[in-house]
Order: sequence, then structure tokens, then C-alpha cells
Amino acid sequence: MNIVSDDIQEVTAAPARVDMYTGIHKALRAFMADTLLAVGRMDCDDAVELAQVTQRVLELLGACASHLQHENEHVHVAMEVRAPGASDAIAHEHQDHLTHITRLGNLVADLRGAGISARPAAAQHLYRELSLFIADNFWHMQVEETAHNAVLWSRYTDAELIAIHDRLVASIPPEEMMAVARWMVPFMNPAERLVLLADIRGKAPAPAFQAILDTARPHLTTAEWAKLARGLGLAPVDGLVEA
Ligand SMILES: [Fe+2]
Repeated sequence: MNIVSDDIQEVTAAPARVDMYTGIHKALRAFMADTLLAVGRMDCDDAVELAQVTQRVLELLGACASHLQHENEHVHVAMEVRAPGASDAIAHEHQDHLTHITRLGNLVADLRGAGISARPAAAQHLYRELSLFIADNFWHMQVEETAHNAVLWSRYTDAELIAIHDRLVASIPPEEMMAVARWMVPFMNPAERLVLLADIRGKAPAPAFQAILDTARPHLTTAEWAKLARGLGLAPVDGLVEA
């Protein structure tokens, strides 16, 4: 973690720049925290709940694996072009995360295959291992948001960063995009949410924009939805775009 300290100073003093990490990392932090809490309160004797919660863990693990792949293929490649070696430490952590993801997947399989008497211990084991994975990821994301951004901001213009991010987003399949929207839109602050949705409206087909709104809306409070609808100029009652 020592690589961070000098760069944090730089980031703290820097003016606002294009930040590829903050939105998706808020989504991941929310997805991770929510899933961990669900595992912690899970009733192992309830077969339906066990199936649902463990499926959610697998979905989280899949999202984490996809996310680090996107970073490797787009962000790290860009960093290495202009700052060779700058992504080495985090790329190494991505390898560790893949190992941890495989281990957690095996713990889910163990829990699902356990007899009734063995389930509580298996669930507790999964809960603790997942918490450590999440803790590690929280540190990891902090490094990316500070040290990696410092590298990106010193070597790329905002227009170039937007182009890199657009290529990354274009590589994401629609189903994955909807899963990301489910966790990203509700857990941003109102200003971030409005900027994101306005950007999506300008770049995506109208049905895709509407689908993202529909996905996020049930997870917003009434006040949050009102602020978003007002900012986007949407009809306040049904969320449809005004004619
Ligand atoms: Fe990462």
C-alpha cells in the first residue's frame, strides 16, 4: 500500500477530473456490503432463502471477475502505454482476487452440498471468507481511485479518458450493464446520478435508457427519484420522458 501515499497528496490537491473508478466502485461496494449482510442473516434451514442468497454471492463473484477483467483490458493497458509498470501492483492483486473468487465459489458449493447439521458452520465459513475478500477489495479500490487516477490524470486528457471509458463500457454485454445499473445508480449521490443518467441518455438508445431507469427506480427513495426526474426533465409521475 506504500505506493499510494505520495499520489494521494497529488489527488487531494488536484482539480476535478474525469474519474472512471468512483461510480463503478460505489456500485461494487454496495453490492459487496449488501451481499455480505444477506449471508450473515441467512436462514440455512430455509431452502429457498439458501438458494437465493448463495446465488447472489455467485452473482457478486461474477461481477467482481468481470470488473477486474475490464480494468485489465482497458484501464491497465492505457496506463502501461504511457507509464510502464504503473499497473503492476494492482494487476498482481487482480490475480489474487481471481484465486479468492474461485475459493469463495467452492465455499458456496460446499454450503449448498452440506447436510442440514453442517450448514450453519459452512455458512459462517463463507461469511467470514467473503468479509475478508470484501475488506481486501475496499483497500484495493482505494488504491485505484487514488494512485491509479493520479497516473491516468497526469498522462491523459479528460477527452482521452472519456474515450477509454466509452470503449470499456461498449465492451460490456447488456445483461451485465443492467446488473451494474442496479447497483450503481441507486448508490451514487444525486449529482453523480444525474450526470450518469444524462450521459447514458445521450449515448444509448431510448429503450436502453428507459430500462436502466426502470431498473434503478425501485431502489431509489421518493425524494431521490424526484431529484433525478426533475434533473432529467422527466414526467414526475410515471417516469416517462416528456413529449
Ligand atoms: Fe481493480
